Amino acid sequence: MKIGFFDSGIGGLTVLAEALRRLPAEDYLYMADTLHVPYGNKSKDEVRSFILETVKTMAEEGIDALVVACNTATSIGVAELRTLYSFPIVGMEPAVKPAVEMNRMTGRRVLVFATPLTLQMPKYYALVSRVDEEGIVDSLPLPELVSYCENLQFDKRVMGEYFRDKLSGYDLNQYGIIVLGCTHYPFYREILREMLPPHIQIVDGNAGTVKRLSALLNRYGISEGRGSGSVRFMCTGGEAAYMDKMQTALAIIRGMDVQNEEIH
Ligand code: SIN
Repeated sequence: MKIGFFDSGIGGLTVLAEALRRLPAEDYLYMADTLHVPYGNKSKDEVRSFILETVKTMAEEGIDALVVACNTATSIGVAELRTLYSFPIVGMEPAVKPAVEMNRMTGRRVLVFATPLTLQMPKYYALVSRVDEEGIVDSLPLPELVSYCENLQFDKRVMGEYFRDKLSGYDLNQYGIIVLGCTHYPFYREILREMLPPHIQIVDGNAGTVKRLSALLNRYGISEGRGSGSVRFMCTGGEAAYMDKMQTALAIIRGMDVQNEEIH
């Protein structure tokens, strides 16, 4: 069975890496909308049309299930995609709910990193209003981070300065958990880990998404477990250069011990 993964760029590879770990006997088609990345600083209507166009191409390639491995695209397009296609579709959700539950006992706050568009969307407001009864969740848009990631900018000094600048107005003693609410951000987990105080846990929604995928494959009777973990890459532009970049980025993320701290 072929499972499609869709992202604006290389961010969805952080979810694919988790799928390859937990579901190695499937085959994967990874599609990056390289013509339009990053999504998070564009308008909702623009991003909606990019999503519809790109997923159409994937459907034509023949996929049995789809993971929208992009928080911004999920906020905007996942509900509409479900009305258009009969294969099961899994989206991302920033791990705000488990973070709030984990934090309840500590009395500390939760800080969510995401793109400006994700944070503006009603889906995010609905999530926070549903789970944050005590008002402990704060949100920090990081408009530049997807572009840094797409340029494979993983230099500790440069990125350390970037995060320090973004966090300069925050008293980190008040925070117990940082939620990575964009699939590109786990590439910065190690850099963040080194610079944040040790009491702050860093979590993302990747393991939860792959668990939901696995449950859906079982429910629809889709998984035959006869795949080989093969990954075919596609992109909407700049094919040759991007193929190398995707291989490199997948190797980087698979080489990192990218584990959620506590949420499994
Ligand atoms: C982006 O391309 O800016 C979106 C990435 C994400 O939200 O996961």
